[in-house]
Amino acid sequence: MIKVGIIGAGRIGKVHITSISTRVKDAVIKTVADPFMNEETAAWAKSMGVEHTTKDYHEIIDDPEIDAVLICSSTDTHSPISLEAIKAGKHIFCEKPIDHDVDRIKEVIEALKGTGLKYQVGFNRRFDHNFQAVQAAVAAGKIGKTELIKITSRDPEPPSAEYAAVSGGMFLDMTIHDFDMVRFLAGCDAEEVYVQADSLVDPAIGKAGDVDTAVITLKMKNGAIAVIDNSRRAVYGYDQRAEVFGSEGMVRTENDTASQVQIAGANGLTTEKPLFFFLERYMDAYGKEVTAFLDAIKNNTDTPLGVEDGLEPVLMGLAAKKSWQEHRPVKISEIG
Ligand SMILES: NC(=O)c1ccc[n+]([C@@H]2O[C@H](COP(=O)([O-])OP(=O)(O)OC[C@H]3O[C@@H](n4cnc5c(N)ncnc54)[C@H](O)[C@@H]3O)[C@@H](O)[C@H]2O)c1
Repeated sequence: MIKVGIIGAGRIGKVHITSISTRVKDAVIKTVADPFMNEETAAWAKSMGVEHTTKDYHEIIDDPEIDAVLICSSTDTHSPISLEAIKAGKHIFCEKPIDHDVDRIKEVIEALKGTGLKYQVGFNRRFDHNFQAVQAAVAAGKIGKTELIKITSRDPEPPSAEYAAVSGGMFLDMTIHDFDMVRFLAGCDAEEVYVQADSLVDPAIGKAGDVDTAVITLKMKNGAIAVIDNSRRAVYGYDQRAEVFGSEGMVRTENDTASQVQIAGANGLTTEKPLFFFLERYMDAYGKEVTAFLDAIKNNTDTPLGVEDGLEPVLMGLAAKKSWQEHRPVKISEIG
């Protein structure tokens, strides 16, 4: 039985607690730590089978019985807690991004070397049934040589300007998932990024120094050209689609909906809106990613997404930010 500690019991921490407690048979959550642990969260955690709750994550790091930690706390804590957990010999699942600072991610990569510890980054969309099927079709050669990749990624509603100001910006907070998806679908890294972006949804986001609308073009190392379009507000719900076009055809996926029902009337056809947001759309993917991490520990195999997969999308995000600020194409090699 693998013993797990969860650091951070906010939105995503609760998602992972739920997944482990409801769908993983050979792991138990020994401890959940959050400085804002209160009676309500502690009672909920207990109802999920968690043995112990605390305000201090060091109780997890210092516990020799705990094999693996899931770092689900705020982004600024990810790399320091990763380093502490590596020192303590724990396997690590770390939410995205590992850090906004490239050197700090490289410190984590260095610290891991030779330890034999597993490290997985939380790019959950790779475990979504639709995107997995698109990637599998591309990898099986069904569309020939990949030439174009199109990703649409639009949130249903924007975050507050206060959140935007501390999030690291849209490219590192939101588009980072799309950067990972482009790498997943292309099967290689990006070479160059060019961005057009603005704050068309909420001027306050612009005042906070961020953007909420963007088109990002990328040249991939295998020669393919990719385009990501982002918005922080889609009135019809969470819009998450991808298409890959190649020499022998095209593969694409539509949004998930609560049902396939179509209602026909005098004015046309109506279908369900896309599932509302990430908690609705990706719950199954979150469960699969955590299961994959725990399976890698159990079977002593590589995790499907290693620590290096945590670095590349951050390089792409920083290049995108630079491209937007300097109005020019930016090579990934300029970043690090
Ligand atoms: N993969 C995804 O789809 C996805 C979705 C949402 C969030 N995230 C990432 O997960 C992280 C958390 O996001 P969230 O939306 O759950 O935020 P949140 O604010 O809901 O939760 C974060 C929690 O971490 C706790 N925390 C802060 N410092 C801590 C520490 N030192 N020890 C233990 N707990 C600590 C906070 O008290 C809070 O309860 C962020 O880095 C975010 O980028 C990923």
